[in-house]
Amino acid sequence: MTDVTPTGAALIDQSPAWQALLKHRQTLSSTTLEALFAQNPRRGQQFKAVAAGLYFDYSKNLLTHETLNLLNDLANSAQLPTAIEALFSGANVNNTEQRPALHTALRDPETNSAQLASSSRQRLSTMNAFADKLRRGEVRGASGKAFSDVINLGIGGSDLGPRMIVAAFPERQVEGLNIHFAANVDSDALKSVLGQCRPETTLFLLSSKSFSTLETLSNAKLAQQWLRETGFDDAQIACHFAAMTSQIEKAKDWGIKPERIFSMDEGVGGRFSLWSSIGLPIAIALGSKAFSQLLDGASTMDKHFRSAAFKENLPVLHGLLSIWSINFNHHQSRAVLPYIHRLAELPNYLQQLTMESLGKRVTKTGQPCPYATGPVIWGGEGTNGQHSYHQLLLQGTSVVPVDFVATAKAHCEPLQHQYLLANCLAQSRALMLGKNYEQALAETRASGLNEESAAKLALHKVIPGNRVSNTLLLEEFTPRTLGALLAFYEHSVYVQSVIWQINAFDQWAVELGKTMSTTVFDALCETDSNIALDSSSQALIDHIRTKPSNMG
Ligand code: F6P
Repeated sequence: MTDVTPTGAALIDQSPAWQALLKHRQTLSSTTLEALFAQNPRRGQQFKAVAAGLYFDYSKNLLTHETLNLLNDLANSAQLPTAIEALFSGANVNNTEQRPALHTALRDPETNSAQLASSSRQRLSTMNAFADKLRRGEVRGASGKAFSDVINLGIGGSDLGPRMIVAAFPERQVEGLNIHFAANVDSDALKSVLGQCRPETTLFLLSSKSFSTLETLSNAKLAQQWLRETGFDDAQIACHFAAMTSQIEKAKDWGIKPERIFSMDEGVGGRFSLWSSIGLPIAIALGSKAFSQLLDGASTMDKHFRSAAFKENLPVLHGLLSIWSINFNHHQSRAVLPYIHRLAELPNYLQQLTMESLGKRVTKTGQPCPYATGPVIWGGEGTNGQHSYHQLLLQGTSVVPVDFVATAKAHCEPLQHQYLLANCLAQSRALMLGKNYEQALAETRASGLNEESAAKLALHKVIPGNRVSNTLLLEEFTPRTLGALLAFYEHSVYVQSVIWQINAFDQWAVELGKTMSTTVFDALCETDSNIALDSSSQALIDHIRTKPSNMG
């Protein structure tokens, strides 16, 4: 299908700033990280920025002060200062849906949007009051018993953020009040949770901004059925549900009691919504005070992002370094490796935040982007990854920039925290320094091999090095510093979208999968025999529908 799009503003890659960076990159073609550190013993102290409880070391990127100057020029050429103000002032930065992006307003008590300020403060206090009441055992089910289990039914932004944060602070949960998550339409996801719960003491949170997501509504139906099998009638079942949504009437029609509906503003994007009523499971798990600390940490990062000069601005630096990696060093993915078991879910959360925001191919005016945009984000907790994909990170042919995330102050047993930090910092060093042939040969000789074998094996032990990474140190692990970290990544994503002139806040592509799955569902269930599918899909359906006896 050819691109028929309106012409629009000049594309960023035509700007003098972009052209200057292309030329500058040529001057670095024979430079290595090791050489940059040798030339400037204070590099590590200079190429870092600190704010909101985060220490951001970006010295292990292939860049100089000149690079930073040119990236700054690019940011100004893309009118980043204006774009930042537009975000915080509630302008319609989501141009294709004509909506603002209000996540920062949710956590900023002095938000510019007066209308939103009062409603979001009201929503927050209503939600927090319910969470604290639940934690005190004062919210009861149809049989009069206090709830022992809360199951969040949601997916994407209605699951990933809350799931990650609840998992990050297990010690804050109230004894005897367990929080669970079920997202997939695969009924095993919910059933594995239901197996741990009893109907009379289980509360379901139907979490869906649109109140129309198949997976969530399907799971909610299964949950209703599970309660009904206990003998509960509709009124009694309603005692075991609450909902978080922007669609209040849909929630009421579904059967949610009005006082159990926790609303959110349409202008809050799903992947930016954990700060809203979607965060109810967080407030239940951590308590309203800690939830407010989470928002407060994010608000501190917001203020920093809005006011700090670009060269000290953590989200701006990270966003510009991502542009430098993707568009000038051609690294199209990034690994996020939290050396914090509590943040094992962080890469999953950042996948949606980054890839659903930046996985775009046209600019805000509809022009195809002739340059690369959103990166593939993946990762996993350290040190586990060292026994899995670090071989490729160190010696593979694909170069993958890495974000290491760790805590300066121990969040776990002190000795084990030292092991964690030693491994995290060592991996960043290993990526940078590698192992040259002479070092490898000395190793193989020392192992007692004869000269010929030693020389041969050494070839396999060379590690190229010169591989870039960022290191983010949380001064300590608290709701406040976690809030700052998540806001840091939200704003880095926004910076990248502004440079690429794309809309970070819509997600039109996901609609295609939803509509196609309806058609395939009808073909699978044979509710419509006139459906014409491609021969692959049809052959697969035919095979699926073949009776097991004559399967090949
Ligand atoms: O993946 C599409 C999407 O709309 C996400 O943006 C969103 O977080 C998720 O589905 C769930 O949407 P809802 O909260 O409306 O159920």
